[in-house]
Amino acid sequence: DWTADSFVETTVAGLKEKLGDDKVVLGLSGGVDSSVAAVLLHHAIGKNLYCIFVDNGLLRKNEYESVLDSYKHMGLNVRGIDAKQRFYDALKGLSEPEAKRKAIGRVFIEVFDDAAHEVKDVKWLGQGTIYPDVIESLSVKGPSATIKSHHNVGGLPDFMKLKVVEPLNTLFKDEVRRVGKSLHISDNILGRHPFPGPGLAIRILGEVTPEKVAILQEADAIFINNLRSAGVYDKVWQAGTIFLPVQSVGVMGDERTYEHVVSLRAVESVDGMTADWCHLPYELLAKISNEIINNVKGINRVVYDISSKPPATIEWE
Ligand code: XMP
Repeated sequence: DWTADSFVETTVAGLKEKLGDDKVVLGLSGGVDSSVAAVLLHHAIGKNLYCIFVDNGLLRKNEYESVLDSYKHMGLNVRGIDAKQRFYDALKGLSEPEAKRKAIGRVFIEVFDDAAHEVKDVKWLGQGTIYPDVIESLSVKGPSATIKSHHNVGGLPDFMKLKVVEPLNTLFKDEVRRVGKSLHISDNILGRHPFPGPGLAIRILGEVTPEKVAILQEADAIFINNLRSAGVYDKVWQAGTIFLPVQSVGVMGDERTYEHVVSLRAVESVDGMTADWCHLPYELLAKISNEIINNVKGINRVVYDISSKPPATIEWE
């Protein structure tokens, strides 16, 4: 019988034997999988696990600081790297979704490679790959797939010469969560909604600028905090706010405004392959809309996405 406790016990023992005194580098994303993989590895090899957490400037409001803080509290040997400007520079002038994804993947690899380089004699790359990622390895999505798609390019980054250790690659998502619970990882990390690697860049339609990121972070924080305080965050599979590439006319006091529009997106799903839009209560939507329009400068209209997947996707890009 599979239990999380016995999985932890046998996996940690297996990792100890496999890794011995070797060093491992691992990129943390703030998500469930990389966090659980890191804690397992940490149990096995302690300070020989070198975690790297990159601020790509495309995370949710305050996410970088708060997640980095939780990692440190968990005792992980983690290095945070502020690479915001490198990502913004790479995104300048790009508006096509795949071009944006490629630029982000490229810069991530550069930043990660630089940091991995500084770990002397590192032998392994740790990854939070889970079983569905293994099956879907042909997909263009996900950090591990991004790395794979660079495989044929030549001039491989140094960390790709490392051996790969993936302690979660036989598990499904719910099992990863159970393992995380057994490792006493906080609900704040285990319960979080999935968040795409390219982050807010694919929720800002068209060109990404730091100004748009700042506006979107504010609106998104209002949305997510309201889901939490209304007690529906855990019932929603994934939620986020989309910055639309249009402006619309509004009125504030006696003034005509001509500002941006955001769309709220909240879906129910099991695995992200199909999804239904959430029937959030009208009162909650009204409260969120008012709060956003009254508090976020630059937004004068909020819409709600009522499309299911298929034929729509969860993300807009
Ligand atoms: P779609 O938009 O395809 O999204 O319905 C399905 C799930 O995948 C996430 N997603 C991504 N995750 N890199 C990622 O790591 C990506 O480029 C990417 N695109 C979409 C999305 O957030 C949803 O959970």
